[in-house]
Amino acid sequence: MNFLANKKILLAITGGISAYKAVILCRLLKKANAHVQVVMSKAATEFVTPLTFQAISGNPVLTNIFDDSASNDAMAHIHLVRDCDLFVIAPATADCLAKIAHGFADDLISALVLARNPQKCPLLLAPAMNNQMWENQITQENIAKLATQNGVKISYPAAGSQACGEIGVGRLVEPEFILEEIAMTLAPKILANQKVVITAGSTFERIDSVRGITNLSSGKMGFAIAKAAKFLGGDVCLIHGGTQLENQQFTFALFDYLQIQRIKIQTAEQMYNEVMQNFHENSQKIFVSVAAVADYRPSKVVDFKLKKNNFKHSQNLNAISLIENPDILASVAALPENQRPFCVGFAAESENLHEYAKQKLTKKNIPLLVGNLIQDGFGGENNKIILFDKYNNIKELPPDSKDNLAIEILKYAKNMLENK
Ligand code: PMT
Repeated sequence: MNFLANKKILLAITGGISAYKAVILCRLLKKANAHVQVVMSKAATEFVTPLTFQAISGNPVLTNIFDDSASNDAMAHIHLVRDCDLFVIAPATADCLAKIAHGFADDLISALVLARNPQKCPLLLAPAMNNQMWENQITQENIAKLATQNGVKISYPAAGSQACGEIGVGRLVEPEFILEEIAMTLAPKILANQKVVITAGSTFERIDSVRGITNLSSGKMGFAIAKAAKFLGGDVCLIHGGTQLENQQFTFALFDYLQIQRIKIQTAEQMYNEVMQNFHENSQKIFVSVAAVADYRPSKVVDFKLKKNNFKHSQNLNAISLIENPDILASVAALPENQRPFCVGFAAESENLHEYAKQKLTKKNIPLLVGNLIQDGFGGENNKIILFDKYNNIKELPPDSKDNLAIEILKYAKNMLENK
């Protein structure tokens, strides 16, 4: 999902201790193959030298509106901002916010902000400052004013301990999050005004107080689709069961930061109930059913640990009787036409992928199905998928990361929706 490759990013750094994090951001942008042009305020150069950014960005760093020998361009304050895809100020100090909220243009960075065309070049501000400075009414008024301006996005500061020793809101958001926000800003908004509901991960069907029936789905494919849908402008609701990602704080924190709605469930029935709540009224919706849902659950669940050979109770480990779970995807696909979303199903097979995938497409009565082999799809970061649609088109995609494949799946679904 590299929306950053070959994009031109103008990265401005103003004077705060978190300027060091901008070095990491610059490095991450370069790693993602973006072109980075750095500009620094005079105060920022007190914290990190222009040479550091020059070495990492591969471009001379500009610091002065007048006579900047680094660029050999007397009109750099105009030209730089004409020729970029996104203007990022990270960290943006209270002073910087005050200046740009009031249209000052007395240094290179504020002049660049004023000279930019908001239609062509979005501005992403990542403020960082002492918590009292952040909470000050004037700063709050400035940020509120900037937040309503055309083409301006804010990466709001995080809470925590600060360099000054105080604790509060004002820390620069972690560079990895700013990077994701930049990528999201640059992604084409093909799913704008579209609700996208996704299921992911494994369900867990209880047997007794300690045991249950589950599977090895890591949740990665479903989470990748949820993130991709958000990047493409969708209004996302992710309903998920067990996932390995729970152990990696980054993904959950990123989803919270990007404001992706996430509902955790345990059983297939709970997943069914959460999913069905989304499809009452008539509006543009997509449902992507990625979860590995248990087809059956124990008919009786006990609240104690069953003994190995205890026939005192009607259920024992030797003979667990099962009942069928609701088929969530088939139920959504069977909704009346005015409530039914565009349904995308998955089929995870260990053999005969073509045959079983086509059967599932027809049986569940859905327009699009993503087929993958267990050995390719379960657990890892990558997958190998084949798309089967209701018009008998089959599209095999080259093996790729789940993030990239998620974009391709959603693009295919959107394309079908537009041409139906
Ligand atoms: O989570 P990962 O480790 O990243 O792995 C991804 C994946 C392999 C789980 C994923 O790519 C995938 O294939 N998901 C579907 C797994 C599955 O259970 O497929 P199925 O063939 O059993 O079910 C067919 C479709 O019906 C699926 O869309 C499933 O979500 C849906 N279903 C199944 C049973 C049920 N009771 N309700 C359902 O909605």
